[in-house]
Amino acid sequence: MKERKGIILAGGTGTRLYPVTNVVSKQLLPVFDKPMIYYPLATLMLAGIKEILIISTPEDLPRFERLLGSGSQWGIEINYEIQPAPEGIAQALIIGEDFLADSPSALILGDNIFHGAGFGVKLNELSLDSMRNLTLFACQVHDPERYGVAEIGADGRLINIEEKPEDPKSNYAVTGLYFYDADAPKFAADLEPSSRGELEITALNNAYLKHSSVHVEKLDRGHVWFDTGTPESLSEASQYVQAIEHRQGVKIHCPEEIALHKGWVSSDKILETASSVANSDYGQYLTRMVKRHNSGHY
Ligand code: G1P
Repeated sequence: MKERKGIILAGGTGTRLYPVTNVVSKQLLPVFDKPMIYYPLATLMLAGIKEILIISTPEDLPRFERLLGSGSQWGIEINYEIQPAPEGIAQALIIGEDFLADSPSALILGDNIFHGAGFGVKLNELSLDSMRNLTLFACQVHDPERYGVAEIGADGRLINIEEKPEDPKSNYAVTGLYFYDADAPKFAADLEPSSRGELEITALNNAYLKHSSVHVEKLDRGHVWFDTGTPESLSEASQYVQAIEHRQGVKIHCPEEIALHKGWVSSDKILETASSVANSDYGQYLTRMVKRHNSGHY
């Protein structure tokens, strides 16, 4: 199997966060101490994915480029493409078709935050699995009507997904992380726009369900998932990150730390970054983190 490549969709107008998103993209807003897009980026890195495409609006894409650059600071490669209009999540796979070049993909939404013990190891395993055509990640929520909802049979198999149903068939939301085989751009190109004029990700996933093997990975109690699209959920996610980081003295989803652990960059490279931002909490953390790493006390 070719190596899986990653796509982060950081488009949209963020209208649910008005007026905060009037002049800045939602995925550039801070979630406690990092820009929101760091979290999905770190999730892909934890899955072992090193080639990543960021898709955003014509206006915002240059800002993401300024923030993240080529990715070489983390030993990865970051590419950029425009989504001219908000025409649906599934369109990301069509925009990313040349970048993917027949590789399997991991599509993640720029406002989705995942965290939990052993999640990186699990992601790595699932990312390498070439037997399934599609892997979805589902999480129990108290407000399923806000999401794509999984209807799961008694045998644990996925029966259907409904997008924002009035009468949800379960409490399992389908999260914004999807592992597709190499056929996803082709399937996406066959979709018809929905009544709201979008290529719906739920329609793509239901199309897979008809023709191929779909696995649903249920995120259990030890895991958290945030979709940070509303003021409440954005603030909740920030508080969660702050509480864990403060209590444990380690940062959640720090790309430098993941890159160092994976052996993608040297300590010296990270210390270079650290010294350029030495007056920030983040810079000081990087220095401490490298020391800890080099002493083997991890
Ligand atoms: C999108 C998807 C939905 C999914 C959610 C996860 O909804 O359409 O199926 O559950 O992301 O974050 P949106 O947040 O764009 O309304």
